[in-house]
Amino acid sequence: MKFEARVGSIDGVKCDAVIVNLFSGTGKPGGAVAAIDRKLGGLLSGLIKSGEIKGKMSELHVIHTLGKLPARLVVIAGCGMQEEFNLDELRNVTAESVRALRKHNCKTAATLVPGGAGGMAPAGCAQAIVEGSLLGAYQYNKHRTKEEDVHDLESLLLVEPDSSKIKQLEAGIERGRVIAEAVALARDMVNEPANHMTPGHMAKIAGEVAEANGLKLTVLGREQMAKEKMGALLGVAQGTSQPAKFIVMSYRGDPAKKQTLGFVGKGLTFDSGGISLKPQEFMSDMKGDMAGGAAVIAAIGAVARLKLKINVTAIIPATENLPGGRALKPGDVLKASNGKTIEVVNTDAEGRLILADALAYAVRQGISPLIDLATLTGACHVALGDSYAGLFANNQDLADKVGKAGDECGEGLWQLPLPDEYKEANKSDIADIKNSGGRYGGAITAALFLQEFVAETPWVHLDIAGPFMTDKVKGVLVKGATGFGVRTLIKLASNLSRKEVKEK
Ligand code: BES
Ligand code: MN
Ligand code: ZN
Repeated sequence: MKFEARVGSIDGVKCDAVIVNLFSGTGKPGGAVAAIDRKLGGLLSGLIKSGEIKGKMSELHVIHTLGKLPARLVVIAGCGMQEEFNLDELRNVTAESVRALRKHNCKTAATLVPGGAGGMAPAGCAQAIVEGSLLGAYQYNKHRTKEEDVHDLESLLLVEPDSSKIKQLEAGIERGRVIAEAVALARDMVNEPANHMTPGHMAKIAGEVAEANGLKLTVLGREQMAKEKMGALLGVAQGTSQPAKFIVMSYRGDPAKKQTLGFVGKGLTFDSGGISLKPQEFMSDMKGDMAGGAAVIAAIGAVARLKLKINVTAIIPATENLPGGRALKPGDVLKASNGKTIEVVNTDAEGRLILADALAYAVRQGISPLIDLATLTGACHVALGDSYAGLFANNQDLADKVGKAGDECGEGLWQLPLPDEYKEANKSDIADIKNSGGRYGGAITAALFLQEFVAETPWVHLDIAGPFMTDKVKGVLVKGATGFGVRTLIKLASNLSRKEVKEK
């Protein structure tokens, strides 16, 4: 899909469809809708008056213009109450509109950037429109041999009456494209079946992202992991014939500074549970147990593409978790690279094992602060549902910064506590710690386990087991992988980066 910002007025654009936003409770349409309404002989105001068009959030009406406008169709996109409208809703309603046009054989469309409303700068709006269009139209068709009969827009024009805003719109378009493409990359990786998305394949994609954006890439194999004494990661990896990979990508956008932000992502390319085998229902979803890893690979690529003035290192421990003759057994004891011993009471609590070595490695490298993303616990999904990731932190200032980044880009994060008293649950009878604290507070005890491996480094853990996949089509989300976390990480890096000119 191509995007362009151009000076003009929306009622004069020749294209297949024009998309205009309408707030609820709009008695008489104003602005662009009024201009279109006049050309349509009052059709729109009539439909509003009769109550057919209400302007409720994401309510769509596709109207044929019968030659009264240069555009063949007008899409009236309901935007809800004007006071409640924000960039997140703009992103979602644009996604719905673009999907609605599939039925109408549209190649070209035009829309307006909603003006005026508090805090909605033109660049941010253009960015939201581009993100909404690309993410709403996202499809994963790689493994179909027959082409899908779904045709998306080829181009979307952002029409703006005020020529002084075009530069800002263009900047927003570019940013939106980079971010949406990163989210789509993460979705592709998560949707990819585990027989294709092996640890080796993850490393290959990390290599392509690194190559395209001038990042440094290091991939440790078994031997090097053994040298680093990564006994916890190697313990999980011993049950599969797929070679594990420890992927490190580094971007130096602010070489004058030593400080480096760390992204750590769980790269479990298939989680069967191991000897503590999972039940068969939904096991196939566990091809996406590398969603944290996918998010950090995609995000660091986007940070580089946006040339943010910040240093970032992404670390992805990647392996499968399978049962077999060599697999970890319940009761085994492993030693992580920070010297701590772990009793493996449940081989299905493997995410925290591989992250233990990844976090300890990041700490040894002096990377700080650290953000990890992991599809870590079913308990977090139960606690917070599909739309919110659990946020855990050993540093409230960092927690607030990550929470703010999530808020700003429309990804739901909800902080849960890390109480010392719950550490009791992770106590082992024979080792320093055990890898499961049981059912109650399972997301919290998992996070407390990770905390043992970050030492004093400021750290935030995002448990994305709820939002990494969806079975709905809604707003920017389509069935399958969501790419959750990519936008938050990019926003966080952008907020923490040094800026020549403070962006709005
Ligand atoms: N990858 C799973 C968690 C998960 C479940 C993510 C469902 C997404 C959707 C993780 O490795 C796991 O199996 N966790 C166990 C931990 C338990 C054994 C302590 C869980 O949540 O049941
Ligand atoms: Mn597991
Ligand atoms: Zn897992």
